[in-house]
Amino acid sequence: MRIGVPREPADQPRAAASPQTVERMIRLGYEVLVEHGAGGRAQFPDDAYEAAGAQTAGGARVWGCEVVVSASSPAEEQLALMSRGAVLICRLDPTRQPELLETLRERGITCLALDVVPRISRAQSLDVLSSQANLAGYRAVIEAASHFGRLFSGQVTAAGKFPPAAVYVIGAGVAGLSAIGTACSLGALVRGSDVRPEVADQVRSMGAQFVPLPSAQEVSSDGYAKEMSADQAAEANALYARQATESDVVITTASIPGRRAPVLLDRAAIEAMRPGSVIIDMAAATGGNTELTVPGEVVTTEGGVTIVGHTDLAGLLPSQASQLYGRNIVNLLALLTPAKDGELALDLDDEVVRTITVTHDGELLWPPPPIRVSASPAPGSPAKAADDEASREAARAAQARSRSRQWLGLAAASLVAAALILVTPSAATSHYIVLMLSVILGFHVISNVTPALHTPLMSVTNAISGIILVGAISQVGHPHPVISAISLAAVVLATINIVGGFAVTHRMLAMFTKD
Ligand code: NAI
Repeated sequence: MRIGVPREPADQPRAAASPQTVERMIRLGYEVLVEHGAGGRAQFPDDAYEAAGAQTAGGARVWGCEVVVSASSPAEEQLALMSRGAVLICRLDPTRQPELLETLRERGITCLALDVVPRISRAQSLDVLSSQANLAGYRAVIEAASHFGRLFSGQVTAAGKFPPAAVYVIGAGVAGLSAIGTACSLGALVRGSDVRPEVADQVRSMGAQFVPLPSAQEVSSDGYAKEMSADQAAEANALYARQATESDVVITTASIPGRRAPVLLDRAAIEAMRPGSVIIDMAAATGGNTELTVPGEVVTTEGGVTIVGHTDLAGLLPSQASQLYGRNIVNLLALLTPAKDGELALDLDDEVVRTITVTHDGELLWPPPPIRVSASPAPGSPAKAADDEASREAARAAQARSRSRQWLGLAAASLVAAALILVTPSAATSHYIVLMLSVILGFHVISNVTPALHTPLMSVTNAISGIILVGAISQVGHPHPVISAISLAAVVLATINIVGGFAVTHRMLAMFTKD
């Protein structure tokens, strides 16, 4: 079969394939036709696609292929170029585009929507929402930093000191966690909230403080939030408003699949924020998380708060957005081409394939039947109890294995020690006792010292090896030339050891010293 990669419309900066993913398509047995200039904004020139093994062609030939991959929803005139029975793999937003679904069904096109991939681990490599949201979260922080007139990290200089910027991220899904990680790495003080309590540990693990909601939802079973009741939403919004007044940057990422984004900050909450504060509303495309967001625009309120409503933040990084998008597509193609023979086989019994297939053989298959997901079983549920018991059992087995490895190691070490004592002249055996005692003592000292202090500890213990230096110096003038040479070498090495240890410690301590 032939795969067509068309040039995207002007408002789509991504390409649906990169030269690397074209190579992988060819390895799956397909022929690939790329429309002239398809990779322009993603910096993939036509010759890079050709070098990867694709042909470049005009739009009509590309849309006429048996399989077409695209980064956007197709226009009517493009669908007219597709043949009946052809397969279209693209982003579609099927909930919001019922007319387009009808057109696809009427034309007998099989359409696979990449933006409705179920959130289960097996399907993660196909999930364009996750791959793009991850980039968008990063870019949201970069946008915030460029609109915020101050540093993100705190600084202490001779001329004065600045505190770090306070960043508050609402919604800790894929985009939110990525934003938290990026803001922390820029040195900001970051807090995060989410309606799903199970993300608290993830927020903390990215380096931020988790601010719980007064009325958090139960642990979700599918990795997505449910809509809150009016009372719960009012309580949560009051918390967001309080946190926003204490923040320099607020990044909102709250979304409920298939619904308008919830409004988290109203006009009054935004007016109460400090002048110069920045809000990045990542949900601008689905209605916005603030009352004052204008999708696609940057607005500044009279009170000096800037609200950024970019609707395609990942698209501001077109090259990587295309690479990740292209990889999602090629991973899907690998799933659909098990024989690697260039023939696409649609297995509608596979729950991932069934979920994303919205039209097939003149039939409308949207919405799909619900699928059983087990992202995070609810506490107290039988699945969760079984999971807990299984992990306890695995931990017990791992502990038993590690204990028997320790005993084996000890037995082997005792045998080696016994063999050494037997072959060593009796006058020298007392040295082994000293060695053994030193090992035991050293082990206890090191394991009771916090790892952060291991380097200073090393320099002190290096200094103890100064005793070697003393012994070696006393032997340098020995009449036997070999003993004298060894002593000289010992003097040099012990000196390097001692001086080097102190130099490293000095450098380390200097890193923590304020001017
Ligand atoms: P996600 O579903 O992984 O995360 C959304 C998070 O919001 C979930 O953790 C959910 O529990 C939380 N949430 C929902 N309602 C909430 C509420 N009232 N209060 C607090 N938390 C709440 O979604 P993902 O992929 O992280 O995307 C987040 C948003 O960013 C979506 O609106 C998406 O459309 C948008 N997005 C925007 C992009 C852009 O370029 N502007 C690119 C990618 C995503």
